[in-house]
Amino acid sequence: MSFNGLFYFIAVALLLLTTSTIANDSILSRFQQYLQIDTAHPSPNYHKAADFIISQAKSLSLESRTIEFVKNKPLILLKWTGKNPDLPSILLNSHTDVVPVEPHKWSHPPFDAAIDHENGNIYARGSQDMKCVGLQYLEAIRKLKDAKFEPLRTIYLSFVPDEEIGGHDGAEKFANSEIFDEMNVGIVLDEGLASPEDYYRLFYAERCPMWLVIKATGAPGHGAKLYDNTAMENLLKSIESVRRFRASQLDMVKAGLKEEGEVVSVNMVFLKAGTPSPTGFVMNLQPSEAHAGFDIRVPPIADQASLERRIAEEWAPASRNMTFEYKQKVSVYGANGKPILTAYDSSNPWWSLIEEAIVKAKGKIGKPEIFPASTDARYFRMKGVPAIGFSPMANTPILLHDHNEFLNKEEYLKGIEVYESILKSFASFVEGKNGKDPLRDEL
Ligand SMILES: *[C@@H]1O[C@H](CO)[C@@H](O)[C@H](O)[C@H]1NC(C)=O
Ligand SMILES: *[C@@H]1O[C@H](CO)[C@@H](O)[C@H](O)[C@H]1NC(C)=O
Ligand SMILES: [Zn+2]
Repeated sequence: MSFNGLFYFIAVALLLLTTSTIANDSILSRFQQYLQIDTAHPSPNYHKAADFIISQAKSLSLESRTIEFVKNKPLILLKWTGKNPDLPSILLNSHTDVVPVEPHKWSHPPFDAAIDHENGNIYARGSQDMKCVGLQYLEAIRKLKDAKFEPLRTIYLSFVPDEEIGGHDGAEKFANSEIFDEMNVGIVLDEGLASPEDYYRLFYAERCPMWLVIKATGAPGHGAKLYDNTAMENLLKSIESVRRFRASQLDMVKAGLKEEGEVVSVNMVFLKAGTPSPTGFVMNLQPSEAHAGFDIRVPPIADQASLERRIAEEWAPASRNMTFEYKQKVSVYGANGKPILTAYDSSNPWWSLIEEAIVKAKGKIGKPEIFPASTDARYFRMKGVPAIGFSPMANTPILLHDHNEFLNKEEYLKGIEVYESILKSFASFVEGKNGKDPLRDEL
């Protein structure tokens, strides 16, 4: 290379580097702006978040509309119309709300979204759950638009409220609306979880909550007498059975036979018994009633009916004067009687498409998982629409709902490239005659 050539080369390289640095900086600053909007419960600033999303949509020439299924709980729906709008569309869902914080327990203020310059971590509530994903969708679209990419399928983005308090006024109403039916959605992407390993995690289902309260009653008695069938004794027998069952489930996880999301989790969340006195509890009286509450989570691959029999026969048997009720019980079965899950075998082309697209963007993937808690994805799966849970965060500790939630800026930027690859693949996908992509069959 001549001196001039070298000079030219260095100049171009510097220019490209500077342009990319500026681009990355503005991407990060948009993420920070979104994180700085306090959308924590119990009083999320939904309108400010909506204004921000709509301004982003304008800068990308996306169509936008605001829907309030419930007043002051706006859902923002964006649309990038495809060249063939008759094909089933792609829906990118994210929630705009976040869980509350205890600011004094944070090393950085939770709504400053400051970047720690030592390690590049961005600290903010919502940095993992899930404002990252919502904006990564938009940044991926920005890159695709810059590259003059034109989607064949229509791409929708929904920014929904209230996920953290059950999604009833957000994704649930949306999934059951006419608006949703008219969108003819073929595949939904929704949130997943961070992965402390170097691979990304993909979720095909989630565990269903069963919030159980068991109640024991028995004759009250003197605290000095050894009665049979007191309320406390009967409740304790149940707690022992519950604990044995819990240990059996945990043992399978510890032995590596099952993943966390594949077993039934049971955790005692309250115990209520005793006769109050001005100084605490009456100490020489056995109470006539005792209650215990359990948060149970059932994966759709488990036999929920047999668990219910176990509850009625072992955990709260009438033979021991016990009763039970569910504060919440979500069925693992959909309207068609089948477990609510998204297939990840060859019957679902989107699954192999997403895996290929991630690998193409130089990402690694773990094996398909069941989300241990609940997300909005269930409302779409209940409608029979496949939904994949995915948040592109590898090499990241799981800090959702925790203090000092953060995401590293490199992981965030990398995730945008991953979505770019996924959207390119999803938006161009044409299903062949027997459910296969003809182009892929040729390979
Ligand atoms: C911008 O981010 C991308 C994705 O992480 C990275 O490949 C690129 O090197 C970054 N550019 C600069 C100048 O840091
Ligand atoms: C059930 O409760 C009643 C009244 O509280 C008591 O008389 C009876 O012994 C209890 N039976 C059992 C099996 O615990
Ligand atoms: Zn979330």
